[in-house]
Amino acid sequence: MRITIIGAGYVGLVAAVCLAKLGHIVTAVDREHVVQDLQDNHLSIWESNLFDMLVISRSEGKLLFATDLIQASAGADALMIAVGTPTREDGQSDLSQVEHVAAQLFAAGSCPPLVIMKSTVPVGTCDKLEQSLQAAGIRTEVAFNPEFLRQGSAVKDFMHPDRIVFGCHSRQAEAKLRQLYHGIDAPIQVCDRRSAELIKYASNAFLAMKISFANMISDVCEGYEADIRQVMEGVGADRRIGPHFLQAGLGYGGSCFSKDLQSLLTSGKAIGRSLPLLEATAQINEERIPQMMDKLIALWGNPRGKRLGVLGISFKPQTNDVRDAPFLTLVQLCHLYGIDVQAYDPVVQHLSMKGVTQVDSAFEVSAGADAVIILTEWPQFIELNWVLMVQLMNQRILLDGRNILSDAMIARLITQEDVVYIPVGR
Ligand code: UGA
Repeated sequence: MRITIIGAGYVGLVAAVCLAKLGHIVTAVDREHVVQDLQDNHLSIWESNLFDMLVISRSEGKLLFATDLIQASAGADALMIAVGTPTREDGQSDLSQVEHVAAQLFAAGSCPPLVIMKSTVPVGTCDKLEQSLQAAGIRTEVAFNPEFLRQGSAVKDFMHPDRIVFGCHSRQAEAKLRQLYHGIDAPIQVCDRRSAELIKYASNAFLAMKISFANMISDVCEGYEADIRQVMEGVGADRRIGPHFLQAGLGYGGSCFSKDLQSLLTSGKAIGRSLPLLEATAQINEERIPQMMDKLIALWGNPRGKRLGVLGISFKPQTNDVRDAPFLTLVQLCHLYGIDVQAYDPVVQHLSMKGVTQVDSAFEVSAGADAVIILTEWPQFIELNWVLMVQLMNQRILLDGRNILSDAMIARLITQEDVVYIPVGR
């Protein structure tokens, strides 16, 4: 098939590269500077396998880049929309990029026979888009095909998904979507568009809720000297619950969970429904960093002028994305308290933030620090020489925000009398 994808950001680029790998001819469309970077094989996102696959598909002529949507989609079998849908200040999804695509199609008066919406959009958006295209005399069908990609394992998630969802209304659209994903071995759910749109929001909301649930129980563990890791191991062993997304820590970050939760809450409000489970999920998440900081400040007494070493800047390991990262909340609080931040991340570099000094290694983070906090569970942080790390510190307080240190290592550290180790939920 010939596919045009508008939006060569995270979702669009991964889809483009993976669809080319499946044998389709894909043209990814974006702004001039994005296309220029991609043509120079320069990737701003850090995603395992993506670069190699991109280079191979381009050399095989299966992946092209363009800046003109109408030219690039002429003769294509389908147009996939993968543009950003950020949250506006009022909590609603900002659909201006989707509207801009629609405006170009209206102006051209033509469009491929199938439009596949990949962007996460509020329920009813695809219905509206199809109606307005058809009202303008453009014969096309809009289908919703949500993405369930995790940053850091997006290529794997695309090629080996748990499920693929098609929200579409005709057999022709379903047949085309099946052809598009031919070669991927996964169950396919075909449903109406509105349900498909809601599947995306509900999935992210449920995952966020699992994390906040684990974090809430971790507070109970702390009060009763139980161990959250053991509690969640026992809880997650029940197949009805499952072991994933029950890791307590400093809460979820990233561009998706908070945004989608907000958007779902706003959709609920629009029909007069409050969604208290989601409100509690967001609130528990917002409290994680302040709660950890309270513990640190209780130990320090006066925080002003202290130096906090931070390990991990991105919102999770295996990505360089800092959007909605717990790090940003931490820095804001440190700024308020007059605490200096010295941070290290294996892939995030040159982040310019007031009150933050970025250093080149974990050891530089701990040198002279009055406490060190682990924000993300990069494997190299687990492997660090922690005995040396604490020796380098001015005040030996270690906040293990992701519970990454092994019991053996903790036992070694706390035999040194001035080491204070603060994990989560135990
Ligand atoms: C998430 C979903 O997992 C994807 O299915 C979805 O497609 C994507 O959002 C999206 O809507 O685009 P992502 O944000 O890349 O993917 O990252 P996750 O691996 O889900 O992690 C999100 C956050 O939750 C991270 O900050 C992570 O540290 C945190 N987390 C995750 C926990 O605190 N505990 C856990 O047990 C799992």
